[in-house]
Amino acid sequence: MTSAAALWCLSLLAGRVVSSPLGLNDQYQQPFSSPYTDSPVGQNNDMVILDLLAKYAPIFKLSELEAFFPSSVNYMFPHYNFTESPSGEIQHINHSLITRSHLDQLPSSGQGLFLSINEDHNPQPFLEEESEYLFGPYGRENETRYEDGRGRLEEEVYGFGVDRGGGIVDLWYWTFYPFNFGKPVGPFGILGNHVADWEHLRMRTVNGTAISADYTTHTGGRFSAGTYRWEDIEKIDGRPVAYVAAGSHGVGKLFKLVDITDDEGPIWDTKSHVVPAIYWNGPESRAKLRHNGDLSWLNYRGKWGNKGETDCWWHRIVGYCQVVDAPWGPNRGFGIPPECIIAPLTKEFSTYKFKFASNVLDWAKSHNIELVKIEQICTRPKTNPDDPDDPDDPDELDIDMEVYEDEVEGWMEVQNVKSIIGFRGSEKHSVTLNPCKGRRFAVRAYKLSLCLLNGRCLSTSNERKICTYDQNKRGHTFGSAVDLDDIDEWRWDY
Ligand SMILES: *[C@@H]1O[C@H](CO)[C@@H](O)[C@H](O)[C@H]1NC(C)=O
Ligand SMILES: *[C@@H]1O[C@H](CO)[C@@H](O)[C@H](O)[C@H]1NC(C)=O
Ligand SMILES: *[C@@H]1O[C@H](CO)[C@@H](O)[C@H](O)[C@H]1NC(C)=O
Ligand SMILES: *[C@@H]1O[C@H](CO)[C@@H](O)[C@H](O)[C@H]1NC(C)=O
Repeated sequence: MTSAAALWCLSLLAGRVVSSPLGLNDQYQQPFSSPYTDSPVGQNNDMVILDLLAKYAPIFKLSELEAFFPSSVNYMFPHYNFTESPSGEIQHINHSLITRSHLDQLPSSGQGLFLSINEDHNPQPFLEEESEYLFGPYGRENETRYEDGRGRLEEEVYGFGVDRGGGIVDLWYWTFYPFNFGKPVGPFGILGNHVADWEHLRMRTVNGTAISADYTTHTGGRFSAGTYRWEDIEKIDGRPVAYVAAGSHGVGKLFKLVDITDDEGPIWDTKSHVVPAIYWNGPESRAKLRHNGDLSWLNYRGKWGNKGETDCWWHRIVGYCQVVDAPWGPNRGFGIPPECIIAPLTKEFSTYKFKFASNVLDWAKSHNIELVKIEQICTRPKTNPDDPDDPDDPDELDIDMEVYEDEVEGWMEVQNVKSIIGFRGSEKHSVTLNPCKGRRFAVRAYKLSLCLLNGRCLSTSNERKICTYDQNKRGHTFGSAVDLDDIDEWRWDY
């Protein structure tokens, strides 16, 4: 493997290992975000949400090459032997606390703790016999094969319903694996192995009907996103099908470049295996619920496996050894909108419609905001990466362009199309913009700024990614103008 390819793999690995838990937790650090609070109250929409979780239970298809199969938290509980704090302090555990209804009784609900196993858990070159339970029950017992020659899995999945208001309910389906097998990284072997793996598939429903799903194997890249229209998703019985990457268990819609997925392994239909939960007490207060009884384990805040190794010689260079830290549990920050907004392409101009959430409105009011700047972000691949100053076409020299290198897409040119309109408070804003200028530039994201009457902008949002499609085609299609109706109110933190 060339060094460039090795670095690329490493960056993918870094994205995968670090991004999900930290990325979501970061939402709570942003200026406009709501506080994290536990609250015992539920709300009357709950039955509708629980029904949706059952209605859209996904079907996972595993790879023929899979060795580390899914399981349940109950399967794993008896194997935990001690907890380790970040500073390395070890406590033996009382097994009467390691149950669904007690796990959150660990000190500080397990905050900062690593629930750890005693057995060896580096599968290189192989796992010791005593660790073979990490393959999961399906991997150990004689699997029943059906007439189609494929096995079946019947493990539970953990579903969270998030009421976002206005008829929008997001569904997050989380799967548990006793072990995650990492990815090969050049001379270092397989990096990124860890005890316990949590993966998810996320769906959005509007007024009771699914409109899109987010798949997660599409790792890295400034604008990469895994949100697909419901029409573009493979379904069985009106429920989504997701392909699970062998070893690292990310779920993808299509066959992937790095992750290995195929349609040959066992089938895991989660219908009637969804363990459902409501995430927060409503879209206004966004207070995370504290769960009781059999769902108490969802309040556990620690990690689900051992601490990673740090004693390999290359740790100082790449930051990872073969065994890395186990992940957090599934109960994370579900307030974020889908990876990208799905919008149809248009011929001439772009239209953007969007609203601000009450936290942004309050801030705007106290800062005398009078104007909103809208920026449509357009990109195209750079054909001559060696010379970032050399534009594709000499006659495009007047375009105000930036160049950056994307982990996955390579060198990209970026150009924004801007407009300023009056700030209209809680009303839905609507603005028409010129299409992306210049050959092959495509709409990829948009962002907003809140500005004073004199044009000075006090705060600029992050970019919200856009996945464009052509009304007459399946999948995503790039283009220079969109008709975008953003149904997620801007809270600024995404
Ligand atoms: C932890 O593992 C040790 C060694 O295998 C064993 O003696 C001990 O009983 C285990 N403790 C618990 C709480 O499982
Ligand atoms: C384990 O925890 C249970 C329940 O809290 C308690 O009754 C029991 O005494 C504990 N056992 C030990 C050995 O600490
Ligand atoms: C598992 O399969 C092997 C070979 O097909 C068979 O010999 C063995 O008895 C089976 N074991 C169980 C527990 O079914
Ligand atoms: C859901 O239905 C209600 C009532 O018909 C409507 O007001 C609302 O806009 C719909 N939600 C979305 C996101 O379209």
